[in-house]
Amino acid sequence: MAERQGLRAERASHFTLQGAPFRILGGSIHYFRVPRAYWRDRLLKMRACGINTLSTYVPWNLHEPEKGLFNFKDNLDLEAFISLAWELELWVILRPGPYICAEVDLGGLPSWLLRDKDMTLRTTYPGFTSAVNSYFDKLIPRIAPLQFSNGGPIIAVQVENEYGSYSKDVEYMKYMKQAFLSRGITELLLTSDNREGLQCGGVDGVLRTINLQKISYGALQSLADIQPERPLLVMEYWSGWFDVWGDSHHIFPAEDMVAVVTKLLERGASINLYMFHGGTSFGFMTGAVDFGTYKPQISSYDYDAPLSECGDYTSKYHLLRNLLKSYNSDPLPEPPTLQSRQAYEAVLISQHMSLWDSLTYAEKPVKTEAPISMENLSVHNGNGQSYGYTLYETTIQSGGSLNSRNNVRDRALVFVDRTFIGVFDYRTQRVTLPAGKNARTLSLLVENCGRVNYGEALNAQQKGLVGDIILNNTPLKGFAVYCLDMMPSFLKGVHGGKWKSMTESPACPGFFKGILLVDGEPRDTFIKLPEWMKGVVFVNGHSLGRYWYIGPQKHLYLPAPWLKKGINQIIVFEEQKAAGRINFAENPEYGKVIDVSKHPFCTII
Ligand code: GLA
Repeated sequence: MAERQGLRAERASHFTLQGAPFRILGGSIHYFRVPRAYWRDRLLKMRACGINTLSTYVPWNLHEPEKGLFNFKDNLDLEAFISLAWELELWVILRPGPYICAEVDLGGLPSWLLRDKDMTLRTTYPGFTSAVNSYFDKLIPRIAPLQFSNGGPIIAVQVENEYGSYSKDVEYMKYMKQAFLSRGITELLLTSDNREGLQCGGVDGVLRTINLQKISYGALQSLADIQPERPLLVMEYWSGWFDVWGDSHHIFPAEDMVAVVTKLLERGASINLYMFHGGTSFGFMTGAVDFGTYKPQISSYDYDAPLSECGDYTSKYHLLRNLLKSYNSDPLPEPPTLQSRQAYEAVLISQHMSLWDSLTYAEKPVKTEAPISMENLSVHNGNGQSYGYTLYETTIQSGGSLNSRNNVRDRALVFVDRTFIGVFDYRTQRVTLPAGKNARTLSLLVENCGRVNYGEALNAQQKGLVGDIILNNTPLKGFAVYCLDMMPSFLKGVHGGKWKSMTESPACPGFFKGILLVDGEPRDTFIKLPEWMKGVVFVNGHSLGRYWYIGPQKHLYLPAPWLKKGINQIIVFEEQKAAGRINFAENPEYGKVIDVSKHPFCTII
């Protein structure tokens, strides 16, 4: 019997799969951005839209949160996600990086790599390749059995991500290609680049694909020119765009999107919508961009995609479904009914605990003469710290001019004897401390707002304090450093710790507790904190992400599967100003919108 043939790109006009012409009608959903209980719902909605191929990135930093400690469970059960796609008759294109970009902290690379001061990420530097090898040794045996040739849905695997825009090492892509081949990846390999990166991003014997949003910029033609005898695949057709704090919410009008998709399909191209459904960057998952100015990304990854953050159909979905009908030989399944939502009654904050009181539940502070980055706390405590907040305390003997020398990554609240003085960030690097002769405690609560996920600055993403802080021309010494990573072990201590009854003006920063009573089956909802300033929210131990009054996002998505009937614990960590209540709404609030084509980002699109 003839061997079943997987995806082939041997003909100029089209792909073949199982020997027959095949067009990839793809869409991206990241399993790590959707609560596991909703994977099926989102994939069914994808199938009902006429999509035949699911693509997902694989985030190394989430799967190996500490060096040598791997997690492929629960929301990170990649094999279960791929198997579910198979059950629902979707092919899979897997994008395992190791670098993925994706608006994820450090582009999905684990921050512990940066403990090595000589680290050069995304090169054949042995410290990098040996870490990739031990990760791939764990990852690839899980995915290889799910390849098409082994009876599974994976028809293609992407090598790295947009390496052409980085391109620091000519040996690197060959090395990565081999890393897949040597571990038994046998399906079609591809690379994915934007137009600028197309020249340098490829590697021999691997299909090149393109990322774009508008045809008019000539990207598709560049691909056809550079690779004339191969089918065209737009690996990332950007259905919308992502948002950063303090900016507007990006939209890409539905009609414009569908007009481009129509043209691409008429041209015979295959396509993958990035994103089909964006979901949410829960916890501290988000990255940042830095094209001269550091801009951290928001927690919502709605992306103005065909399915909204909470899985609603948008006008893009309906227009797209209408279009894709004619590219599917079988009638499309009916779209599933929507989840119901509820604006719960406001929850009153009943208890609070100041940050200072919560320190009893943190690990013992690390003592260090000079400031030390959060990654390098590993020198003292083994693991270092990847995400969240780090508190640096030292003793000062005078007031005066405190200068951060731009050593704060990324934002710090400054306190003297626990009284708030000011904020350091990239723009504000000088704060005046009030005069005082006696010994006083200076505290800097530093937040890692997200490591950049794209561009030149990847190797310089250590967070916390990365150099001296100067008081009146003298570097401060003798720090106690607390790791406030907001991870379960710390939060458990806080949760079970000593709380005080809520007052009119409670101390901030601090933790604030309230109880949401759910009567009946839980429903999806959106948390809103209109009078609060900045912080993170935890519901029954799940971290929903960050809120910040500057927007654009003014909500946090709270999926029903993370709620239960009866009592639900909500803990808010607020940095600056707490209000007495937590509000709920049926709908999200994405803030002021801007058409993505009018945005400076467009120069890279
Ligand atoms: C690039 C990357 C993606 C993502 C998009 C923007 O195309 O490959 O991972 O970062 O940009 O959303």
